[in-house]
Amino acid sequence: MDSFTYQNGRLCCEEVVLEKIAASLGTPTYVYSRDAIERAYLSYAQALEGQDALVCFAVKANSNLAVLNVLARLGAGFDIVSQGELERVLRAGGDPSKIVFSGVGKQPAEIQRALEVGIFCFNIESDAELDRVNEVALALGKVAPVSFRVNPDVDAKTHPYISTGLKENKFGIDIDHARAVYRRAATLPGVEVVGMDCHIGSQLTEIRPFLDALERLLKLIDELAEDGISIHHLDLGGGLGVCYTDEQPPSPDEYVAAVLEKLAGRQIKLVFEPGRSIVANAGVLLTQVEFLKHTGDKHFAIIDAAMNDLIRPSLYNAYQEIVPLTLREEGEALAWDLVGPVCETGDFLGKNRLLNLEPGDLLAVCSAGAYGFVMASNYNTRCKPAEVMVDDNQFYLVRERERLSDLMKGEHTLPADR
Ligand code: LLP
Repeated sequence: MDSFTYQNGRLCCEEVVLEKIAASLGTPTYVYSRDAIERAYLSYAQALEGQDALVCFAVKANSNLAVLNVLARLGAGFDIVSQGELERVLRAGGDPSKIVFSGVGKQPAEIQRALEVGIFCFNIESDAELDRVNEVALALGKVAPVSFRVNPDVDAKTHPYISTGLKENKFGIDIDHARAVYRRAATLPGVEVVGMDCHIGSQLTEIRPFLDALERLLKLIDELAEDGISIHHLDLGGGLGVCYTDEQPPSPDEYVAAVLEKLAGRQIKLVFEPGRSIVANAGVLLTQVEFLKHTGDKHFAIIDAAMNDLIRPSLYNAYQEIVPLTLREEGEALAWDLVGPVCETGDFLGKNRLLNLEPGDLLAVCSAGAYGFVMASNYNTRCKPAEVMVDDNQFYLVRERERLSDLMKGEHTLPADR
């Protein structure tokens, strides 16, 4: 969270006092630092300088157009999982020839659109999907560049909901079956085999599982070479973890250096699909304390942000720091559960947090730039928060707060005579 610092007791994003944003746009509001996003992206890009490589930001982590545009301006590629994400990248000025299309269930119309705009590669996850891509490409008179997502069966040692590289997960093609799929693909006229990919999980805090996966993929690449199938790029997916509290994940440059060492002497283009490590610590969620409530031996702070705005604590029991926008000298800190207005016991953003609170206080939920707004919902018919980007000493509204009229758009009651 280097771009969020206290200056004279007030939390700032770059050179903007966060209270100013809350006063002008209300809460809950997501705030992103342009500088933090750029620095995180550049830590990958610079570690890869001089290499044939592509850093494709995983759009699912944060798909705000301003975020995508900042990355597109730096020459980033993008990892998408839907036509919706594709259209966002194009709208934000992203280069289609740097897009990889991941995901287990691509629709024919999505494949068609991606072929029309000329993406870099389809990351294919099953035999049936290979046939679908082949058919759509043939119908358009095109050849689809494809890679297969190989499931290397390694333990990413992360939360079971975000671990994806084990045999029992729905993702990818079993490594023991992959050679056969590649051979079949080589015979299909609508596809051209260009790459191999994997993604073993998210929020990894060690390099070892990445290297284990890499070793297994390299072995497969060598076997395919014996079959006359050459792999031009290797996509290692995303997954590098960040510090939410006291984790000590490797930095992007340490991770990239370890990968490059393993690849020494090989002529292969490298692709990465980082999401969280680019944006998580570039964002916070601003929220206000509505009421303080004491029941039994518990202290509840009811805040205006809820699980529908940021679901990670409720869904994964994820820990994100919560800090005051203004440090208070007087008064006593208590252990608070910070809960939202949604009617669910699981609606909390933090539990047992030692804070010195008063009603009306403004707080920041930290590390909220990844899988924050993108996972927000309208549960309880609540409007999604506004999004703001800070650039040095200026802030810009990059997504308006939803209005109730937006929420009822497209809904109809039955005719009066029914
Ligand atoms: N590539 C693929 C194919 C993926 O499935 C993912 C994330 C990424 C790249 C980016 O991974 P990252 O660098 O962000 O770890 N909602 C969860 C995280 C789900 C990750 C899903 N896949 C969370 O809030 O922790």
